[in-house]
Amino acid sequence: MSASHPVPDATAAEAGSTILSAENVTMRFGGLTAVDSVNFRVARGEIMGLIGPNGAGKTTFFNCLTGMYLPTAGQVVFDGAVLPPKPRKVVRAGMARTFQNIRLFGNMTALENVMVGRYCRTTAGPFTSIIRGPKFRREEAAVRARAQELLDFVGLPNATEILARNLPYGDQRRLEIARALATDPKLILLDEPTAGMNPQETRQAEELIFKIRDLGLAVVVIEHDMRFIFNLCDRVLCLVQGRALIEGTPTEVQSDPRVIEAYIGTGPEASDEPVDGGEGGES
Ligand SMILES: Nc1ncnc2c1ncn2[C@@H]1O[C@H](COP(=O)(O)OP(=O)(O)OP(=O)(O)O)[C@@H](O)[C@H]1O
Ligand SMILES: [Mg+2]
Repeated sequence: MSASHPVPDATAAEAGSTILSAENVTMRFGGLTAVDSVNFRVARGEIMGLIGPNGAGKTTFFNCLTGMYLPTAGQVVFDGAVLPPKPRKVVRAGMARTFQNIRLFGNMTALENVMVGRYCRTTAGPFTSIIRGPKFRREEAAVRARAQELLDFVGLPNATEILARNLPYGDQRRLEIARALATDPKLILLDEPTAGMNPQETRQAEELIFKIRDLGLAVVVIEHDMRFIFNLCDRVLCLVQGRALIEGTPTEVQSDPRVIEAYIGTGPEASDEPVDGGEGGES
């Protein structure tokens, strides 16, 4: 992202004010309560971590925040307005996400994948698009330029013409981030952005997330890699069986014995190892 084309948001006055709040969000599937009365607040310019063992409800909670699910109870307020449970409207309101199971258009190039994200901000109607009128061509050129800028920003400057399915796994994850950024979000939600990455790629992902925050965006990140989370985040919420167990600074959460217990249990196989380095599994 060039200096001439930033994503301005968090002015000095706004920084620290609430961009997203979830109020008593509950999601039930039949008899299973996957998310149970969770309250959650994210400030502008903040990196918030969401942790919890497999099946804790993290992805379901993301789905409630991003309009993929209508919560059984509770509400989500984004940028001062209650969010309608429609993913498209949520994106237009300024919230973008990536997926635990990568969802790219495999047979499209990296550039085209990012361009798709951009179209939610274009205005050319169907008629001018079909006849490829001047307005369409102007917008198309701008979308293309912006998409390349974002590929550069996420560290994929040479991936432009490569089909998404042929990119290495770590690069696919960055490409998803570029596509999410193309929607000009105020907040970005990342579901296990380092799953399947090697340590070097994980460090690069961490740098990228700091760069995104430095643009003024708020970030919410789900991860199983505790070293990554505690290094990256301003605050961390730990979910266990759908409920908020603890929310606090990395230091507070890291040292809470309930968090360690939630991850490694207290059975005979429990060890004294610190909570660390769990591989992000795709479930
Ligand atoms: N669409 C669904 N229908 C029924 N049950 C679901 C659905 N989605 C999730 N669940 C259940 O809700 C619970 C929470 O799942 P979720 O995927 O949100 O957990 P998670 O914290 O993201 O886990 P992981 O770390 O493995 O990704 C699980 O018991 C899961 O089986
Ligand atoms: Mg998940």
